[in-house]
Amino acid sequence: MNKLLEKLLNKLPFVIVFAHQKGGSGKSTICMNVSTELSKQFTTTFIDFDKLQQMTKYNNNREEPINSVVIKDERKLEQFLRNDKGLTVIDLGGYDSDLSRVVLLLADMIIIPMSDSDNDIDGFREFSHLIEKTFKIRTDSKAFILVNRVHHADKSTHRGLTKYVENTIFNVFDTVVRDNKLHTRLLSTGKNVVEKQFFSKPSKEIQSLVQEIIEKA
Ligand SMILES: Nc1ncnc2c1ncn2[C@@H]1O[C@H](COP(=O)(O)OP(=O)(O)OP(=O)(O)O)[C@@H](O)[C@H]1O
Ligand SMILES: [Mg+2]
Repeated sequence: MNKLLEKLLNKLPFVIVFAHQKGGSGKSTICMNVSTELSKQFTTTFIDFDKLQQMTKYNNNREEPINSVVIKDERKLEQFLRNDKGLTVIDLGGYDSDLSRVVLLLADMIIIPMSDSDNDIDGFREFSHLIEKTFKIRTDSKAFILVNRVHHADKSTHRGLTKYVENTIFNVFDTVVRDNKLHTRLLSTGKNVVEKQFFSKPSKEIQSLVQEIIEKA
């Protein structure tokens, strides 16, 4: 078996959470792409805590929906995770609540999609304090920034964000997901970008991100 796959298999149960209090940074979009790709290799369950329920709608439109559970409160979430043996992927939505703080505490890997716009950085400053508090309790958890929705020729955003979080608890994925129209029609088609156009740039980026998630889990 592929050594990388084996590494994550040995870590199961494992919880990946897409989070950022800044709205519209790409949490649901990246979650749709990544969760359905990961589900091809691991027993995966999806939980939608985003108020807009976009991932749920996308999943319902899929030919082969991935397993999902509807959970409304912290107690039920803890109960579910206590019994689950696979990979759980959570779209946390852009809000702060008691439930979202518990979700962050239960995460093994937090993925924060963002760009270096003033709004994203400003939102991140506040959000990063929350994650830092969480990591005082969950010392084994990891947080990764994913540079998302940048111009196809942009090089400075990744460099800038890497410098920005230097010597902090945050890491930055090497993979950059660039602005591409293919990402804007996932929900209505029930297909991720790899399934839409395997040889496209967005597909290569998502495949690279999935590899990196497995490698760094
Ligand atoms: N890499 C990308 N290329 C092009 N469009 C993108 C990309 N990433 C996200 N988008 C678009 O940006 C918008 C916001 O993305 P998305 O809904 O995933 O953000 P979000 O963080 O889940 O927002 P919310 O905080 O409201 O839950 C959507 O219209 C989506 O199609
Ligand atoms: Mg969302």
